[in-house]
Amino acid sequence: MSAFAYRGGELFAEDVAVASLADRFGTPLYVYSRAAIESAFRAFDASFAGMPHLVCYALKANSNLAVLDVLARQGAGFDIVSGGELARVLAAGGDPSRVVFSGVGKRVDEMEAALAAGILCFNVESPAELTRLAEVAARAGRRAPVSLRVNPHVDARTHPYIATGLATSKFGIAHDEAIDLYRHAATLPSIAVTGIDCHIGSQITDLAALVEAATRVFDLADRVEAAGIPLAHVDLGGGIGVRYRDEVPIAPADYAAAVRRAVGKRRHTLLFEPGRALVANAGILVTRVEYLKRGGERRFAIVDAAMNDLMRPALYDAWHDVRPVHPRDGATETWEIVGPVCESADFLAHERALALADGDLLAIATAGAYAMSMSSNYNSRPRAAEVLVEGSRALEVRARERVDDLFASESRLPRVT
Ligand code: LLP
Repeated sequence: MSAFAYRGGELFAEDVAVASLADRFGTPLYVYSRAAIESAFRAFDASFAGMPHLVCYALKANSNLAVLDVLARQGAGFDIVSGGELARVLAAGGDPSRVVFSGVGKRVDEMEAALAAGILCFNVESPAELTRLAEVAARAGRRAPVSLRVNPHVDARTHPYIATGLATSKFGIAHDEAIDLYRHAATLPSIAVTGIDCHIGSQITDLAALVEAATRVFDLADRVEAAGIPLAHVDLGGGIGVRYRDEVPIAPADYAAAVRRAVGKRRHTLLFEPGRALVANAGILVTRVEYLKRGGERRFAIVDAAMNDLMRPALYDAWHDVRPVHPRDGATETWEIVGPVCESADFLAHERALALADGDLLAIATAGAYAMSMSSNYNSRPRAAEVLVEGSRALEVRARERVDDLFASESRLPRVT
């Protein structure tokens, strides 16, 4: 059941009327449901019951401290891609020994911070990164736990900007170069080889692609172990898709059953890095219609949210459902839902049939993932506030940015005396 449903002709977030949140906190406003996050996590986690595993939430999807706190309390680990994300996990009370560090461009200071925090594993993506990590760890007098991210060369059949497992991708180590790099890593005194890792892309709805990648990674794990290098864990990455429109997402139970078959009799701890699947449908973006503009070839509903708040439509031509907070009776018209930013790519939705009036509130659905976390201040627009609903309670978990926050760290030229 969705956490966002109509009751008595208006949209609710759990037990709170969305309109009351807009009145109290203003718009544009991100609203998250704690119950939806928890139930998505539990569904994923429980489907692997009986297998040693750790679900490391990929916080690039939504890194609000309250969201991380909710997941940490459920026992989640975290997949980070920067020192900033590590700091967020620590600030939210996350356990560093459950953190894996992904990403192709880890800086020295980020490696140092992660080593000092005592993370579970670095997912190393190139020979050069391995060399650097070995040096940083040696200097710090530590052994860095490492898993190599291998590129299984599997087509995730998703949007090209979010496919990462192809031979042409910048991510990971080519499948056929991995064994040699494992052999080398095993000789480095400041490196402890602990696992193997892959991630082939995002918003994947094709179970066969995930199974193919997992099978290739397990085969490689066997070869690494046959070379005398034991592995404690196999990290199968994230990428499970969700329904934005009419996609048929992979059910956690089906994914888990397929993984179980691919694992066979192996006894590794399994790691997963889901982001979107845990939070996308736990959030909406609430926006108010500022102007209706008719005339010309199209009708525009100009709303107070824009591409700086939600850039997925502009960047990937992504489709998000648009739901009126108070649906109106009467004839619908076809609207372009656009923001105030000075770019033609500033649209949230094309050609939606809605009955609209000035001042109406709209909810942009499936906005819990890659939405606020990808927002910017373009056009000097302060970022939206974020609210977490739990039952009938609403907590402001990020205050709306103020205009003077935007340039507080800038300065004018020195005065000429
Ligand atoms: N692990 C790694 C190494 C990743 O690069 C990603 C996502 C994940 C896990 C989590 O993937 P998920 O389970 O969320 O699919 N901004 C895009 C999505 C970019 C995904 C980047 N990597 C979007 O809005 O669709």
